[in-house]
Amino acid sequence: MSSIVLKVLSYSEAAADIKAIRQVVFQVEQDVDPTLDFDGLDETSQHIVAYLDQKPIGTARIRYLTDQLAKIERVAVLSAHRGQGIGKQIMAAAIDFLDRQNMPESKVHAQSHAAAFYQKLGFQQQGEAFHEAGILHIEMRRSHPALQ
Ligand code: COA
Repeated sequence: MSSIVLKVLSYSEAAADIKAIRQVVFQVEQDVDPTLDFDGLDETSQHIVAYLDQKPIGTARIRYLTDQLAKIERVAVLSAHRGQGIGKQIMAAAIDFLDRQNMPESKVHAQSHAAAFYQKLGFQQQGEAFHEAGILHIEMRRSHPALQ
């Protein structure tokens, strides 16, 4: 039987898995410049990786902006595995991790097409839409504690 395992990892523990997913989703599928995606901040971020039968299929990273605010970013699920709750599980793992760190608030820069995905996870729009990496985004924030 197939099983999903979510892991909270450092970049050095999972760099090959994280790169494999982000290259396919952001560089190939969304045409994002690799130097924007791999911006040198992975080493100091915390990472979530979802494994299906040991194969990496989704990821996100958590970056601490201040001791009061974290940013969850680089959220990606391989296209063959979308629509099955994997992205939601990755975000829930990130939120749970931040809760356990007593982080009061987190934010995302949501690609506008994915705003409803984050809204279902308790994030609310802040301000106006803007362009980042050539893609329309909106800032969304959620305060902790964890998903009910
Ligand atoms: N628009 C609206 N709703 C969406 C959505 C979208 N693009 N993607 C997911 N949802 C909804 C689902 O319908 C589901 O709703 P439900 O809980 O009521 O059933 C919920 O959000 C969770 O969906 P899930 O199946 O966990 O999402 P996913 O595994 O398909 O992952 C993404 C969602 C956005 C991570 C995935 O589509 C992806 O990797 N996209 C390409 C990269 C990207 O754009 N990342 C976001 C950068 S901000």
